[in-house]
Amino acid sequence: MLDKTKRGWWKSAVFYQIYPKSFQDTNGDGVGDLPGIVQRLDYLAELGVDGIWLSPVYASPQVDNGYDISDYRAIWPPFGTMEDMETLIREAKRRGISIIMDLVLNHTSDQHRWFREARKSRDDPYHDYYVWRDGTPDAPPNDMRAAWGGPAWEWVPEVGQFYFHQFAPQQPDLNWENPAVRRELYDMIRFWVDKGVEGFRLDVIDQIAKEPDTKITANGPRLHEFLEELSREAFREEGLVTVGEAWGADVERARRYSAPDGRELSMVFQFQHMYLDQKAGGEKWDAIPLPLVELKRCVERWQTGLFGSGWNSLFLDNHDLPRIVSRWGDEGQYRVASAKMLATMLHGLQGTPYIYQGEELGMTNIRLPIGGYADVETRNLYRDRIAAGYPEAEVMASIYARSRDNARTPMQWSAEKNAGFSQGEPWLPVNPNYTEINARAELADPESVFYYYQKLIALRKRYPVFRDGAFSLLEAESEKLFVYTRETEDERLLVVCNFTGETVDWERPQAFAGAELLLSNYGAPLEKLRPYEAQMLYLGRP
Ligand code: NOJ
Repeated sequence: MLDKTKRGWWKSAVFYQIYPKSFQDTNGDGVGDLPGIVQRLDYLAELGVDGIWLSPVYASPQVDNGYDISDYRAIWPPFGTMEDMETLIREAKRRGISIIMDLVLNHTSDQHRWFREARKSRDDPYHDYYVWRDGTPDAPPNDMRAAWGGPAWEWVPEVGQFYFHQFAPQQPDLNWENPAVRRELYDMIRFWVDKGVEGFRLDVIDQIAKEPDTKITANGPRLHEFLEELSREAFREEGLVTVGEAWGADVERARRYSAPDGRELSMVFQFQHMYLDQKAGGEKWDAIPLPLVELKRCVERWQTGLFGSGWNSLFLDNHDLPRIVSRWGDEGQYRVASAKMLATMLHGLQGTPYIYQGEELGMTNIRLPIGGYADVETRNLYRDRIAAGYPEAEVMASIYARSRDNARTPMQWSAEKNAGFSQGEPWLPVNPNYTEINARAELADPESVFYYYQKLIALRKRYPVFRDGAFSLLEAESEKLFVYTRETEDERLLVVCNFTGETVDWERPQAFAGAELLLSNYGAPLEKLRPYEAQMLYLGRP
């Protein structure tokens, strides 16, 4: 077990993200719950993870599945009670697993008490907790758009003003310029630290310092000042891990967010590698095949750019992204091989890996009729693109490839009713492939994706080179192979991944001639690399 009082313990850790609504239901209402997570802690301990990033469990009207919080100090009743939360924190800790809570500090729900007060009168003390501008009902302050379509401004007749929202209208942006807002948030964070929470994932943290008058959303001028204050006031304990979600981060900014002196955050969760397989000038919905050479360049930039001066989060999946095996692997014949290959590529890198629920089983995307999608972003996209004249089949193809609901279908525990997720009607359909892809089957199969992840996690703990080694890219121009080394004075690691469904020629570098095969998804290496083959080769001392 890692010593979590030590600064930087999270550099050796592997985290697992839980989307509570879809993880495990215990009371038959079709929605996952906190007792369900407690029930599955042994499964996570078996996998070997050190912490759980828990997507929001706070009281919420669920317009955006909990990223619209109406009370930061209460649990959404279908998830359970505060006692259930305390039990989860305690039971997880007993197994060496930390609970990392999701903090949504950029906005609240419009049902939060602060906002209900704020919208009553300009003189209300809570009015200035949000971002208001004058205007007339038909003339908003400017033409800014919200992330999921529609204007970023909403008119409130009671006060004769517009409020600003970067996401849904039901998610009004908090006004970080107001010190009282910041104080409230810090107090709230301390409430959870006192309960034993050991870290936080900070939702869209690069968007808190917005300046709508100049149309600035991400990376506003006061961002780093706010982050430093937040860290000083709320994240006092050395051991707390803080992960900032930053869609707009580049390497330079990330160095500042995650500088080793801990002035801001522990690490940054950035998305540059997730923008590569979309049309230039398009949106995430405009998917193109993965340009592997660009992916490698991007990974190299981040690996070398933060080496010694910051810290990466490593991920391919989360609750906002389609399933990686469907996206960059092969969800058909080579599902198992390609899921393992993608995991090898990621877990060999420097940074802290995040496994998203079901990724360790090689879970895939789903296709639903449009009425079956629950996600606000997906529904708005459909509405807007159909209205703009896109052909229905094209819109649905985008949704199949990119909808966030791909990641949100219930966890596939077994081949039993509703994949063992719930005795009731699940809130989102279970992927019909659960009879074949499920945890029970994988736990019974030593060659499963699950056990491969377990091995990757164990290797990270055993060999310091995974944490400390310098990264070098080989075969940079290959459109089929992703090959890199990691090196310290004592150890050398070679990671070889075939990103195609074909057999590919490959000659192992002389320097690794006598290397030990730490892990492979095929067994002993041959002269050529087989479809989606991955190898990790090692020289040095354990
Ligand atoms: C990012 C979260 O990951 C996403 O799920 C959410 O919808 C937005 N932030 C808004 O909170």
